[in-house]
Amino acid sequence: MKIGILGTGIVARTLAAKLAEREQDVMLGTRNVARTMERRADDVYGNPPFRVWRGQHPDVELGTFAESAEHGELVGHATAGAVSLEALNLVGEEHLDGKVLVDVSNPLDFSRGFPPSLTVCNTDSLAEQIQRAFPRARVVKTLNTTNAYVMVNPREVADGDHHVFVSGNDAEAKAQVTDLLKDWLGWKHVIDLGDITTARGVEMLLPLWIQLRGAIQSPMFNFKVVAAGRPQP
Ligand SMILES: NC(=O)c1ccc[n+]([C@@H]2O[C@H](COP(=O)([O-])OP(=O)(O)OC[C@H]3O[C@@H](n4cnc5c(N)ncnc54)[C@H](OP(=O)(O)O)[C@@H]3O)[C@@H](O)[C@H]2O)c1
Repeated sequence: MKIGILGTGIVARTLAAKLAEREQDVMLGTRNVARTMERRADDVYGNPPFRVWRGQHPDVELGTFAESAEHGELVGHATAGAVSLEALNLVGEEHLDGKVLVDVSNPLDFSRGFPPSLTVCNTDSLAEQIQRAFPRARVVKTLNTTNAYVMVNPREVADGDHHVFVSGNDAEAKAQVTDLLKDWLGWKHVIDLGDITTARGVEMLLPLWIQLRGAIQSPMFNFKVVAAGRPQP
């Protein structure tokens, strides 16, 4: 499958590497290809410059946000949450029309330091803002509640006995994403939370995720939902 992933950070890189390993045709998207390839410094999280990663993954293409979305039959969204709408506005609505848009972003606002707050919460979510901005895209929120490494290696935590969520208005799109999570990334348990408004809950899990990251002193964990008297989804 041709896949576009909007972003060049650790999430986009990690997803792209795994999907390319699964022989999918992946193009990452960035604001300015030349500028991204010219960067020499590590990013703010200490990840090496993009060109170093690209040298190790020559099978993954790099284009502008618009080219990446145009390339994808399915499009992933992994840009910094506080500026995601700005990034998506560079895509062009026509490149997302009718496509499944898998949104893994979090609306984290680091402008007042750490821990971050949320740019949107309670009565709205970033996923809903994206769905409203691109009404013909089929937005599915998922994977935002795990670390990038766990996204593509879920079985390295408790042999995969934990959960990931999907939220979205389009049942067919959610079913497709659920299959991809299982077949390509190795997830065992996927809970469909409901329509796109349920993204509020998974985005508001982030303050807890960040606190747990500090308490456990590791990003290698995930949420597991245990219900009495019902088989695990
Ligand atoms: N890190 C994790 O483990 C993790 C886990 C779950 C969810 N998430 C979420 O996934 C998303 C990606 O996270 P990340 O750590 O991989 O990357 P990130 O550093 O949060 O975002 C990098 C991307 O954002 C774009 N960007 C930055 N400023 C921009 C602006 N002003 N206008 C347009 N685009 C801009 C960059 O574009 P350029 O390519 O042009 O530089 C780059 O592609 C975030 O929303 C994050 O909260 C992260």
